Amino acid sequence: MKKDLLSIRDLTREEFMEIIERGIERKRALKEGREDKPLKGKVLAMIFEKPSLRTRVTFEVGMYQLGGYAVYLAPQDIKLGVRESVPDVARNLSRWVDGIMARVFSHDTVVGLAENASVPVINGLCDLEHPCQILADFMTIYEHKKRFEGLTLAWVGDGNNVCHSLLLASGLMGVNMRVATPEGYEPKEEIVKVAKEYAERSGAEIEILHSPQDAVKDADIIYTDVWASMGQESEAEKRKRIFMNYQVNPELVKLAKPDYIFMHCLPAHRGEEVTDEVLDGPNSVVLDEAENRLHAQKALLVKLMSR
Ligand code: CP
Ligand code: NVA
Repeated sequence: MKKDLLSIRDLTREEFMEIIERGIERKRALKEGREDKPLKGKVLAMIFEKPSLRTRVTFEVGMYQLGGYAVYLAPQDIKLGVRESVPDVARNLSRWVDGIMARVFSHDTVVGLAENASVPVINGLCDLEHPCQILADFMTIYEHKKRFEGLTLAWVGDGNNVCHSLLLASGLMGVNMRVATPEGYEPKEEIVKVAKEYAERSGAEIEILHSPQDAVKDADIIYTDVWASMGQESEAEKRKRIFMNYQVNPELVKLAKPDYIFMHCLPAHRGEEVTDEVLDGPNSVVLDEAENRLHAQKALLVKLMSR
């Protein structure tokens, strides 16, 4: 049976940890120049309905380094669901390639691809989640903090796709998570409910708040993301006003633990959700996160595609 990664919900605690550990091993192998090509001859199709720097480059470079190949399909190439239906695209691609990675607007699209493809489907970001980002982020947290349980992660900003995947992963792996959003921009109830169920098992605490100060107090990790995600460009000006007090700046980070780490999935809008001092400061690990997209995803690709 093929396995997909559409959501953090598709992974058990053991599988999640296995990807982090294999990601760390593959990072070491690459740095030491050791041969690591378990996907020789395998091909990944990469469907993009939205722009990307990190996701595109890390999946493409990752497949190359593992001995395989990646085919980039730009938004205008296949016009998913317009020129051809999602099920038909999935059925055709399954005859040629060994895996599909898709960055889409609607979560239903990755579900439709997965239901109709006979090869593994990976969610490379949708409106609901960004699971690959969060695998790389947890690998980064593990490298810097050497553990998950007992840490506190403060999310400041929009209750968006990245926030959703972080909530699920925090609950799963025992990280306490405090989310501070403006009213009306909280993460989806259905995700918070599952994250809290996971947290009950792992012993973590999940809190949805409105005060950035309350969220950040004594936190080990501060995480933020853009105020308007891809597809929400028309709301950008309105959101700038609503999120004004949710900026991660030197004054806010003073409330966290002195050895806190600052995280952002990137791209960042400097001077909006985060200031240069914090983004480029000594506690920022944003480039480690970006680097680890490559290594964590290589571990994921091998897990799903070498079956
Ligand atoms: N963080 C992230 O997914 O970056 P891209 O949008 O550039 O792929
Ligand atoms: N929340 C952002 C993440 C980009 C990687 C978006 O969806 O645009």
